[in-house]
Amino acid sequence: MTVSPVSAPYRGAPGTASALLLENIHPLAVDVLGRAGVSVQQRPGALSESELMEALPGVKLLGIRSTTHVTEKVLDAAPDLEAIGAFCIGTNQIDLEAAAARGVAVFNAPFSNTRSVVELVISEVIALTRQLTVFDSALHAGVWQKSAAGSHEVRGRTLGIIGYGNIGSQLSVVAEALGMRVVFYDTAEKLAMGNAVRLSSMEEVLTVADAVTLHVDGRAGNGGLFGAEQFAAMKPGAIFLNLSRGFVVDHGALRDHLVSGHLAGAAVDVFASEPRRNGDPFDSRLRGLPNTILTPHVGGSTEEAQEDIGRFVAGKLRDYAAHGSTSLAVNLPQVITDAGHGTRLGHLHQNVPGVLATVNSVLAQHGVNIVGQSLTTRGQLGYVVTDVASTLDSGVLDALAAMPETVRLRVLS
Ligand SMILES: NC(=O)c1ccc[n+]([C@@H]2O[C@H](COP(=O)([O-])OP(=O)(O)OC[C@H]3O[C@@H](n4cnc5c(N)ncnc54)[C@H](O)[C@@H]3O)[C@@H](O)[C@H]2O)c1
Repeated sequence: MTVSPVSAPYRGAPGTASALLLENIHPLAVDVLGRAGVSVQQRPGALSESELMEALPGVKLLGIRSTTHVTEKVLDAAPDLEAIGAFCIGTNQIDLEAAAARGVAVFNAPFSNTRSVVELVISEVIALTRQLTVFDSALHAGVWQKSAAGSHEVRGRTLGIIGYGNIGSQLSVVAEALGMRVVFYDTAEKLAMGNAVRLSSMEEVLTVADAVTLHVDGRAGNGGLFGAEQFAAMKPGAIFLNLSRGFVVDHGALRDHLVSGHLAGAAVDVFASEPRRNGDPFDSRLRGLPNTILTPHVGGSTEEAQEDIGRFVAGKLRDYAAHGSTSLAVNLPQVITDAGHGTRLGHLHQNVPGVLATVNSVLAQHGVNIVGQSLTTRGQLGYVVTDVASTLDSGVLDALAAMPETVRLRVLS
């Protein structure tokens, strides 16, 4: 990460903050921010790079979901921006390093829709294993077609989970409750839940699983993780699910294995390129295939999850705006604070020796008494929150802003 000093003293009270929420974020987010005195504008769809650059001047808090991309160019055009709330789990639609280097905090909702994704996966594993879409389409087409051939109970079958994080591990528990055997592979060491068995490679999972489901994160290295070779390694008659990220899977290869009959079915919720707005056209090489469930990235889209995400992420934005808390920020050092008493300074700086000493010496030189202080560092950045007994004059703020290590200085009261 390249951290360049961007001195931007902030003297406004949280009540003067303005927020822009895109992509149909739950109304609870507006309530949470509104009750904290933040003025909120909402827009239903995502914005393109140029639309975002035009909309952001004057905006301190931005709320997006997975479709809006916040690039370095967008951040350069948003000098007032202090924090971005990703009202979803993934944050790879945001240039996190560029945001950190400009002192823009990024928050997400790592757990709010975990259960919703798990329930959709379970329903799809059962639907595909019982060929429900095939029976359903036949009857809708006016054809009575009753058969037990190729339909199975899920009890006793093996679920292979690739990526055993929040979703993968919760899925493991629910699948075992249905009587499934669970095997998994994760690049990181993970505690196996219940009777689940950790295997030493993805390939090992593919050779034993009757259903393979991907729950890896969106790191760049996962691009093309699952292609012709991996589909070929799956058991004949197995089913495949991807509710993680679209770019992880080669849909051409998946199509080939569904058309040849090697795989018995698939459920896909995420696509490498997804339409931006409801009503936009959609195309995929997977359209029209039998026993293939396609859903428009709705794994985490339940009213329960959206409400929880709305409350959770808006709370993070409010707490950062109001009292500088970076609890669960994905790109800044985490300092967990409650409401302060008196005046509070949030100083984000380059993590080099002596910065804290300089901050304290500047305050001492101006006769400012420190009543509380908390510092955390992360990589190239340090963040110190300081409560002081007196109001601060422009001399002390200018001196702190002028420090060569200062990335961003915020004054909160
Ligand atoms: N479809 C939806 O609506 C929806 C909703 C929520 C989350 N998601 C996506 O689901 C995925 C999982 O979410 P989560 O909250 O469980 O994330 P998480 O970060 O808790 O877990 C991801 C796990 O994958 C592992 N992993 C990463 N790369 C791997 C690889 N190549 N092989 C094996 N393991 C690997 C990581 O070590 C981690 O344990 C994310 O991509 C997220 O964006 C989709």
